[in-house]
Amino acid sequence: MKVLVLNSHTKRDPITHRFGYRYIQLICNRWLEILILAWKAEIGSRPHNHSASINFTRVLSGQVLERRYHLSGGQLTVTSEKVIRQGQWTWTPPYAIHELVGLDDLAKTLHIYFPGRLK
Ligand SMILES: [Fe+2]
Repeated sequence: MKVLVLNSHTKRDPITHRFGYRYIQLICNRWLEILILAWKAEIGSRPHNHSASINFTRVLSGQVLERRYHLSGGQLTVTSEKVIRQGQWTWTPPYAIHELVGLDDLAKTLHIYFPGRLK
């Protein structure tokens, strides 16, 4: 059985998202939100945006696929796909629609949102 090691960064327990990835909130307030996510191959976030927050994401291990989308007339269209590897960063502007998909069971990502997405 494979053990998910998220707690090397924090003592908090990981939370399993309904889409299947796991995450830990390192900082979560109205100004700043920092998470670490652990992926599995083929597990994805599904298309979403971060409202008015800007997002920076760094791949800590493994690799993920990032898809970017354009929404027009209620139709989502993929505009780009890019593999983000260990050590690389990507970012998402406010209201931009994207999706991350784990490409292996080792993928972990650090996510920084400014401001935090608390409502
Ligand atoms: Fe996102």
